[in-house]
Amino acid sequence: MVFNPSSIDRLLHVWLGAFLAGAFLVLSVHAYYLLRDRYVELSQKAFKIALSVAIVFSLGQLMTGHHAADGVAENQPAKLAALEGHFDTLEVADMYLFGWVDKEEQEVKGLNIPGGLSFLTHWDFAEPVRGLNSFPEEDRPTALNAIFQFYHLMVAIGMLLIALSVFAGIQWWRGKLFEHRWLLWAFVLAVLLPQIANQVGWFAAEMGRQPWVVYGLLRTSDALSKVVTANQVLFSLIMFTLIYALLFALFIYLLNKKIKHGPYDEDLEDKRDHLKDIASVIR
Ligand code: HEM
Repeated sequence: MVFNPSSIDRLLHVWLGAFLAGAFLVLSVHAYYLLRDRYVELSQKAFKIALSVAIVFSLGQLMTGHHAADGVAENQPAKLAALEGHFDTLEVADMYLFGWVDKEEQEVKGLNIPGGLSFLTHWDFAEPVRGLNSFPEEDRPTALNAIFQFYHLMVAIGMLLIALSVFAGIQWWRGKLFEHRWLLWAFVLAVLLPQIANQVGWFAAEMGRQPWVVYGLLRTSDALSKVVTANQVLFSLIMFTLIYALLFALFIYLLNKKIKHGPYDEDLEDKRDHLKDIASVIR
């Protein structure tokens, strides 16, 4: 697993995805404080630090994503064809900005960059890319529309994160970072974007490699345990769902409490002032 060809690409991509989730959480909390006129000095500093991380890492995410796609083209070509809904090898491969995969007609209806996928994989707009039909039917992923939509949602969010953070960076450079309330509101809400991109990216990667659990070697259908029954699997899934739902609720509750409380501990402040008073009396 560690030395398989996609490990490093995926590790870097997921690592940057985690940093983006962190940076956008900090941005969201401090944008909220700024909109409420609370902890202004501290929030402006924190916002700028998190924005610097967001600018560098959102651009980095495009680079690692592009590199991961190159790796997929080489090592998991059926997945690449599924990510872009590309059926026919003889045709130049377009790259879709968004669209809908029509499995019956074997085409994608949507807005595309003609030859975009050919260019990304071969640096040539006219070079064909291997399509889904060139793989035996039992070796192709089946949930084509879901794979296409999840992948395109991740890329669209990636572009939005770049646009948002670079635009805010320009405002910072112009000395107008905290003047647009709509921009601060956009950052409050943008906390959800990296979370969604991380989930759908993972869905696209995992659904795209079906029907294999180990690519080209072991099918998912052959990887089923002979001793664990379907009911046992269902039971543990339900238990996991409940436990994670509980942890999620606890996380939201504690996070909300911390945000409402703010960065300063008032008790501690009072005690510090009190100690200062005592010290001045002693002096
Ligand atoms: C900016 C454009 C982006 C491109 C071109 C891109 C490209 C890719 C590709 C090709 C994969 C599949 C890798 C594989 O199957 O081996 C992938 C997976 C993934 N992406 Fe992206 N991505 C982008 C943005 C993002 C963003 C913004 C996030 C999160 C903040 C993200 C998180 C993920 C995750 C979590 C996976 C699953 C990785 C795994 O399971 O190993 N991606 N991405």
